[in-house]
Amino acid sequence: MSDAPPTPADAQAPATAESFAPVRFAVLGDAFLDISVGPLDAVPAAGADVEVDAVTQHPGGSALNTAWHLAAQGVHAGLYAAVGRDRAGKTLEHALRSESRIAEPAKTLAILQYQPTATCVTTHGAGMDRTFMSAPGAAKTATLSQLLPKGLETLADCTHVHVGGFYATPSLHGGLPALVASLRARGAKVSMDPNFDPRGEWRSPAMRAAIRGAGAVDLFMPSEVEACEITGRDTAEEALEALVGDDRSTSETPVGLAVIKRGARGVLAGDSRGRRWSAPACTVARVVDTNGAGDAFNAGFLRVWSLRAAGSEEPDVDAALRAGCASAAIAAQHAGAVGEWAPSAAAVDAQADAEYGEKQWWQKGILACMAPRKLA
Ligand SMILES: Nc1ncnc2c1ncn2[C@@H]1O[C@H](COP(=O)(O)OP(=O)(O)OP(=O)(O)O)[C@@H](O)[C@H]1O
Ligand SMILES: [Mg+2]
Repeated sequence: MSDAPPTPADAQAPATAESFAPVRFAVLGDAFLDISVGPLDAVPAAGADVEVDAVTQHPGGSALNTAWHLAAQGVHAGLYAAVGRDRAGKTLEHALRSESRIAEPAKTLAILQYQPTATCVTTHGAGMDRTFMSAPGAAKTATLSQLLPKGLETLADCTHVHVGGFYATPSLHGGLPALVASLRARGAKVSMDPNFDPRGEWRSPAMRAAIRGAGAVDLFMPSEVEACEITGRDTAEEALEALVGDDRSTSETPVGLAVIKRGARGVLAGDSRGRRWSAPACTVARVVDTNGAGDAFNAGFLRVWSLRAAGSEEPDVDAALRAGCASAAIAAQHAGAVGEWAPSAAAVDAQADAEYGEKQWWQKGILACMAPRKLA
């Protein structure tokens, strides 16, 4: 959360025209309280007492981040996640109500009586890899019937359901294939970001059901490492073919579309009709924090993709990839995965236009100095 006093959601800028698009998202999955420590030069030695510039708290969790960014971009988005009846849970609920534009969090958050709110400590610093230490608590134990007490009826008016933090929410797995099949039979779109599997199991029956057969999602959005682990392939290109390509060893249908996030190398995408897309990442002169960039990507992509998909039109995948990268690039320039800084649709589209649109000769010159590969 930012240091600024909370702004009541009602007092924020009026909703844009896109708020009235016939797209309604439910985002299902994990909500975390992230505690970020740094910057550090190295992991402290045992017994050391180290001073850092800041230890800050931010709302986090893949589902929460994606819903937050979707709502900031003017998309109607509800968050179905669990917290505990504890101080961290109250902090998260307050941040959602006062700083985000997520629809009615007080009504959709499940409060579990005997579980702590999921918490994650992250360390960062220029000279070290990001490290995560998580106590997944309520995110790990929450079941589908706790998140959706009225079952499918809870999602009756949703045109799109996004599942975030699949591996962080193992107690949802049993019910997911049937839920996905019912939603799709009703005409709703379903997307999923698996996120990292801290247990390293990756190819569980629940994941196989999410990517092949009647319970497979329409749109699968892993990072490169996650895609390779899940498919058992070595490269993003091979993983993409395994996810959407023609696999003669099975008659089960694959996911319709897979989007693989590759950090500073941008994104790859492909669909089961044999079409392939890619986009380079946006130029970011100073990366502050890439934690949650993948979730900001999801929101930018899903906003553009779902507007057409909801009307049964052919989605513009190229435009969606560019909006995703622009949304992620803005997020990478801010500390924490979400905050009041989360960009509007107009800000994301302006970033995408500046990065990928037609450029004047002098703009090309500046970009050539920053990142020569952009001119290719
Ligand atoms: N250093 C960077 N410079 C520019 N863009 C970046 C950078 N890092 C990430 N991005 C953007 O963010 C998108 C998602 O990043 P990444 O591949 O790290 O996702 P992720 O691993 O799912 O992230 P997380 O799970 O932490 O949210 C990338 O496709 C890219 O567009
Ligand atoms: Mg991710």
